[in-house]
Amino acid sequence: MRGVDFPHIDSTRPSVARVYDAGLGGKDNYEVDRAVLRAIDAAVPNHTIVPRDNRDWLIRITRYLAGQVGVSQFLDLGSGLPTAENTHQIAQRVNPEATVVYVDNDPMVLAHGRALLEENDRTHFLSMDLTKPDEVFANPEVQRYLDFAEPVALYQIGVLHHLKDTDGIRQIMREYIDRLAPGSYVAISHFHNPGGEDGQAAADLQRVMSGGPMGSGYFRSRADIESFFGDLELVPPGLVHAPLWWPDGPQVKPLITPQRLFLAGLARKT
Ligand SMILES: C[S@@+](CC[C@H](N)C(=O)[O-])C[C@H]1O[C@@H](n2cnc3c(N)ncnc32)[C@H](O)[C@@H]1O
Repeated sequence: MRGVDFPHIDSTRPSVARVYDAGLGGKDNYEVDRAVLRAIDAAVPNHTIVPRDNRDWLIRITRYLAGQVGVSQFLDLGSGLPTAENTHQIAQRVNPEATVVYVDNDPMVLAHGRALLEENDRTHFLSMDLTKPDEVFANPEVQRYLDFAEPVALYQIGVLHHLKDTDGIRQIMREYIDRLAPGSYVAISHFHNPGGEDGQAAADLQRVMSGGPMGSGYFRSRADIESFFGDLELVPPGLVHAPLWWPDGPQVKPLITPQRLFLAGLARKT
């Protein structure tokens, strides 16, 4: 963030939350973050279409869940920095009674996002590590704000590809899913390596993201990403490129390479 210093924030090293904010055209980022974005763009041009696709998808699933399905509790893990349309604004526009709990462990999100993400008494931000489901569920504020005997929409949107250990993710997701009531939903979007012609672009991006100063960004197979949903039932059209999940209109242009390296899906616990 230009010219503003926060304690505990290391402005000499990029962070996932700030690089992503830069990708969305936000202002809560430093030159080190924008340098990562330039390296990503040099590897595979126009990659910033992915964060935009991802946010548009978040808007569509949140509208669907809060409206058509009637879910009124949202646990948004790895919320990121506040942006134009955040989960609580979308859900509460449809249902003003909807409760949203955001979780993130980035100090910039804590410093800068808290005020904006805690706009009303049905919206809360907690600084926690989402890889520790036991701690998330045991947190007194999580318990106070969310009733896990009732359906909850659990978001892992653009997050799990920043964790390295695939088996570890499966275990983390099992622990979350086991605690959800029937009628709950899980949303996951994730970098994808489809192999074939696009496989090289995925490998190049993974090298820049996880081998570079940002430190993470793993492109996984469809089978691995599907396994993170456990035995939940995917809502049609299933795990697809984000722009193809219930688009607001027909897809008029063919998807470009970065869009083909990203999958999104929403699943229901029966
Ligand atoms: C790419 S951003 C995605 C933001 C938002 N979910 C979206 O899709 O627009 C990933 C976020 O996950 C957060 N994150 C990564 N690992 C985390 C962890 N172990 N615990 C909590 N948050 C984490 C990062 O700080 C970052 O804000």
